Amino acid sequence: MHDFIYKNSELYAEEVPVREIAEKVGTPLYIYSHKTLLKHYNAFDEAFDGYPHIICFALKANSNLALLKLLAREGSGSDVVSGGELFLALKAGIPAKKIVYAGVGKTKEEIIYALKSRILMFNVESPDELMTIDKIAGELGVKAPIALRVNPDISASTHPYISTGLKKHKFGIPINKALEYYSLASKLNNVKILGIHKHIGSQITKVSPFVEALKKVLVLAQDLKSQGIEIKYLDIGGGLGISYDEEVAPHPKSLARAIIPLVSSHNFTLIIEPGRSIAGNAGILITKVLYLKKHLKKEFVIVDAGMNDLIRPSLYEAYHHILPVTRKNRPKVIADVVGPICESGDFFAKGRKMGRPRHDELLAIMSAGAYGFSMSSNYNSRTRAAEVLVKGKDFSVIRERETYKDLIKGEKIPAFLK
Ligand code: LLP
Repeated sequence: MHDFIYKNSELYAEEVPVREIAEKVGTPLYIYSHKTLLKHYNAFDEAFDGYPHIICFALKANSNLALLKLLAREGSGSDVVSGGELFLALKAGIPAKKIVYAGVGKTKEEIIYALKSRILMFNVESPDELMTIDKIAGELGVKAPIALRVNPDISASTHPYISTGLKKHKFGIPINKALEYYSLASKLNNVKILGIHKHIGSQITKVSPFVEALKKVLVLAQDLKSQGIEIKYLDIGGGLGISYDEEVAPHPKSLARAIIPLVSSHNFTLIIEPGRSIAGNAGILITKVLYLKKHLKKEFVIVDAGMNDLIRPSLYEAYHHILPVTRKNRPKVIADVVGPICESGDFFAKGRKMGRPRHDELLAIMSAGAYGFSMSSNYNSRTRAAEVLVKGKDFSVIRERETYKDLIKGEKIPAFLK
């Protein structure tokens, strides 16, 4: 459910016509809905009501400071995977005690930063990392709170690039090695075992993989208990899908209903790390039609956004609805919607049936709030898009469009070239 709807053939973001925002701020432009974000966050929070839990929004989906602030005010924690994300989470006011830190390649500097910030826990992805964290914590004279990320070898039936829970993947430690590594951790002087973490993939549209994975993790928790290792936090990761096209994703309530009975006899605090299911359908990318082009029988709609703004179609052949900002009756065309970047992979849709767009017409690429701006780049030396947050009748620019000057920020000409 989102709040981008037509009123009299005009697409609105909550109560503001999208056209009005685009005219003021220009294109390409990301627009987010305050109301949708709140709704999605609270859907999670309420679904798990009745069982101790922390919702740790996965910053990688969208790390705009204003969005994070909005979520922080609702009580959100965060799942971070880099020093940069930790910095942003703290900057937005997310309490360190609600921050978990995953990722297979944490650097020494990042570990020190997280220890000094006193985050809730590290989700440790290898024994090698465990030893490193122990050593650094020892040097700092602190105890590092940790969970081991276990890889439950569960297929998440999603795109191979965003599936993470099979043993062939680089993430976590194989679940059959978990006891051994927990036992190792329990003997280290400078780490404190707090939890178990798992995350099996993203855009998962069924509840069953979550249940299967959790069952495996619960067996592990039981085994640990019998060895005297108590688990306080059970981090079940993120990954709940959204509806991009026809797929129907489970409501957080269905996830909670399947999960809570499995943990109700335990005294865990659950950690859930949703990213896409909070931000995905809360954002759209607005782009302007530049040219229409016909090659033999093929039609192209060339727009001013490119794969540098939204890479999901190029990278995962992801489907995004593309809607006209102003609906009009017009002849249908089957076209590829493409960007200006010098790569054949620069497309938003292939063979899409749509009303024939006109020059300068605005199009909305839907479901772009997660892994949209956060994966954008300056490829082809394109300035990154502006971002706007709408709340009711108001809207604010929450990130200025980059300028050409931003493109050379930090670059230096060496003396021998002067
Ligand atoms: N926790 C961990 C440890 C993760 O690796 C991820 C996502 C999440 C939580 C959040 O998952 P979500 O609820 O958003 O599915 N760029 C890809 C998605 C990559 C997801 C990576 N990990 C895409 O655009 O589809």
